[in-house]
Amino acid sequence: MFYTRRTVFVFICSIVFLQALYYIITLQLKKNQTISPYDLTSDKEKLSVSNDTTLIQKIEPSFISTTSIQTLVPSFIKATYVLAINLTRPDPVVFKSYPVCNFSISNNDTSIYRVTVSKTIHPFDVIEKHHDDIDWGGHWFPKTCRTEQRLALIICYRNREFHLKLFLDNIHSFLKQQQLDYTIFVVNQHGTDQFNRAALFNVGFLEAMKLYSFDCFIFHDVDLIPEDLRNVYKCGDRPRHMSVAVDKFNYKLLYSTLFGGVTAFSLSDFVGANGYPTVYWGWGGEDDDMYLRVSRKLKKSITRYPIEIARYKMIRTYNHTSGKANPHRHDILYSKYDYNRDGINTTRYNLHELVFYKTFTMINVTLTEERFEQISARLNITKRKPAKKIKTIRRKA
Ligand SMILES: *[C@@H]1O[C@H](CO)[C@@H](O)[C@H](O)[C@H]1NC(C)=O
Ligand SMILES: *[C@@H]1O[C@H](CO)[C@@H](O)[C@H](O)[C@H]1NC(C)=O
Ligand SMILES: *[C@@H]1O[C@H](CO)[C@@H](O)[C@H](O)[C@H]1NC(C)=O
Ligand SMILES: *[C@@H]1O[C@H](CO)[C@@H](O)[C@H](O)[C@H]1NC(C)=O
Ligand SMILES: *[C@@H]1O[C@H](CO)[C@@H](O)[C@H](O)[C@H]1NC(C)=O
Ligand SMILES: *[C@@H]1O[C@H](CO)[C@@H](O)[C@H](O)[C@H]1NC(C)=O
Ligand SMILES: *[C@@H]1O[C@H](CO)[C@@H](O)[C@H](O)[C@H]1NC(C)=O
Ligand SMILES: *[C@@H]1O[C@H](CO)[C@@H](O)[C@H](O)[C@H]1NC(C)=O
Repeated sequence: MFYTRRTVFVFICSIVFLQALYYIITLQLKKNQTISPYDLTSDKEKLSVSNDTTLIQKIEPSFISTTSIQTLVPSFIKATYVLAINLTRPDPVVFKSYPVCNFSISNNDTSIYRVTVSKTIHPFDVIEKHHDDIDWGGHWFPKTCRTEQRLALIICYRNREFHLKLFLDNIHSFLKQQQLDYTIFVVNQHGTDQFNRAALFNVGFLEAMKLYSFDCFIFHDVDLIPEDLRNVYKCGDRPRHMSVAVDKFNYKLLYSTLFGGVTAFSLSDFVGANGYPTVYWGWGGEDDDMYLRVSRKLKKSITRYPIEIARYKMIRTYNHTSGKANPHRHDILYSKYDYNRDGINTTRYNLHELVFYKTFTMINVTLTEERFEQISARLNITKRKPAKKIKTIRRKA
């Protein structure tokens, strides 16, 4: 009797031990599977995107209602604008005869790549004078060489005029030095509904695609300014997390799955992920959701430039209020809802106007907040205990 009891005890102990061992091993394997905080080989990787223009046609029409454009009261004092323009395109014949732009990061003297960030807030007319070679809508392309990508830099925005001025004044010089064909889009969320950063990015994507054959998209917070020219604003064959090292966080990557701040997607990757989610109202969750879309739906890992290159200054002063944290973000994030059911093709917005300012294109929209009850019914989200926690750190948005 005693003997069998001991056998049972030993048996149970070994099961517990084996389970613990299994758990430790799988944990270790998972750890090895997660991406390295930054990919040192990525700067050598070929930066290319597919130019399959049929991709965009696969997107179902989204639910856009356009209010008639009324007499516009300019929202930005001293900023010049037009209401209708076609973005200038390089002459295809002449363009073909040019050599490919060769901005390269081969020089060993790395100090030449460091950017001096201007911290003086100028009025728009002064910023426009600083960059008087830019075309309407904040569009520019090199005039003596041929670019391989067309970049739409998309900024989500609400009432951050000082940040926007600093950003524009700095970013134009940066992108011109990298010899890129780029356009800057500022997507403003009008109204008092909770801020929806991710939905604004989808709006920027949809509206930008109507204007020009973009094939590279960089989604950007307005308060981050790049500090190193080797941080090239091009898209590769994997989505890239650009804002690896931010001064506010002592130039350290906060956690390995961080995908907020600044991200870069080729057209096919963005469409493949069904864009950003639209169901995160208020602060938080949407960047982690996008990370999961990339790994689960797109089945790719993200990439990063080395930490000494992907450096940013965060503008901390002037109206830096953080949005209200979304209490439902974890319920949505961990629910494993079907990403086909929410994304680019379910982005609903009311477009007020599209204004081509001299140094950027303004897309002004109202988004109507969807209540959590509606979201959970639409996406079949049932409340559940968090299975896998993704470490998130509160960042003032
Ligand atoms: C882009 O499209 C053209 C014509 O359709 C094709 O010849 C070229 O190889 C394509 N380039 C890339 C990078 O796919
Ligand atoms: C833009 O281009 C289209 C087609 O070529 C033309 O019909 C339209 O008038 C142009 N608009 C402007 C503002 O130049
Ligand atoms: C790029 O090409 C131009 C002319 O084609 C040349 O003058 C310049 O030195 C090249 N720059 C680099 C970094 O190779
Ligand atoms: C840069 O460094 C590499 C090796 O560190 C060396 O082979 C190369 O000649 C250097 N290039 C220049 C332009 O100094
Ligand atoms: C700061 O916020 C206040 C209130 O929302 C607004 O009136 C003011 O214009 C903002 N200032 C800047 C520089 O954005
Ligand atoms: C949206 O696109 C996805 C593919 O990414 C597709 O599976 C889904 O049916 C589409 N949804 C709607 C509402 O069109
Ligand atoms: C956005 O549109 C609304 C409604 O037309 C307008 O009141 C507001 O000033 C616009 N905002 C911007 C930043 O253009
Ligand atoms: C919703 O989720 C429940 C439980 O996970 C599942 O049984 C049901 O089939 C789902 N419904 C749809 C329409 O996907």
